[in-house]
Amino acid sequence: MSSRYGEFPGARPRRLRTTPAMRRMVAETRLSPAELILPMFVREGISAPQEISSMPGVVQHTRDSLRKAAAEAAAAGVGGIMLFGVPEVKDAVGSQGTEPDGILQLGIRDVVSEVGDALVVMSDLCLDEYTDHGHCGVLDAEGRVDNDATLERYAEMAQVQADAGVHVVGPSGMMDGQVGVVRDALDEIGKQDVAILAYTAKYASAFYGPFREAVNSSLKGDRKTYQQDPANLREALRELALDLEEGADMVMVKPALPYLDVLRRVADEVNVPVAAYQISGEYAMVEAAAANGWIDRDRAIMETLTSIRRAGANMILTYWATEAAQQL
Ligand code: PBG
Repeated sequence: MSSRYGEFPGARPRRLRTTPAMRRMVAETRLSPAELILPMFVREGISAPQEISSMPGVVQHTRDSLRKAAAEAAAAGVGGIMLFGVPEVKDAVGSQGTEPDGILQLGIRDVVSEVGDALVVMSDLCLDEYTDHGHCGVLDAEGRVDNDATLERYAEMAQVQADAGVHVVGPSGMMDGQVGVVRDALDEIGKQDVAILAYTAKYASAFYGPFREAVNSSLKGDRKTYQQDPANLREALRELALDLEEGADMVMVKPALPYLDVLRRVADEVNVPVAAYQISGEYAMVEAAAANGWIDRDRAIMETLTSIRRAGANMILTYWATEAAQQL
């Protein structure tokens, strides 16, 4: 072909973009409801759902509204839910995280009985929602997060969550050895079938901001001594190797959008399912910009989800899971 400006190669890629039907047919990445996972918060001691101001549209649930939202997710075909508990009382060791009647365990029981056959019920396995200092583990005499003492707590948490009937636990505290300890603890009580979704590459991110409100976090300071430095990719691959060796059934990269390169590397590396967590700050950015009329909300949501899939995620944790599933 030629124009008055000279020759160009004959190919015309635009032919495949001419109509909606053509674009749909040649799309390389598709989303389906089954690969979406909805994170949900259940809070003790409230009589009505509480809005989370930095996450418009997301609430802290009562036990009742949690059941309903889980049923709604299941009806939309969502693949799974990830539960977080918000207790009334916190203490230094996060006692409510290991109480059989702690709010998360009650929430697990409720949703397993409600929707347990229709979707996968998962729970966050971490202490930060339950500790008065807000860290993901227990502290030593100097106030540092004590890795090995924390592992003992995680083992107990895994067991009470499994007893409550959860299908998958998600250790998210970034303690060394957490996957192996959780696996042993589950096996010890005959819960071989409870799977582990390992938070493998979890970065110390500013984008967790709104989540802190969602779980009434009491954290002062940061989590930089246990979560990863945003600068590092090789370190994520080291964490990955360790998690797989310790028995992770699925692995996760978190946050999602600022770490698509990490996600791609992890996806290329493994032969287990890979999840990505589109976190609270990613949600809040889109909602805030859309509320200002600066971006098209629905298109932005689908574009972010498609990008995360394209980068190699099999599953995506997203606060838009039910809505996106309904649209698909
Ligand atoms: C820790 C945990 C966090 C999130 C999920 N699990 C908070 C943190 O590490 O500070 C963040 C999720 C989000 O921001 O949406 N239990």
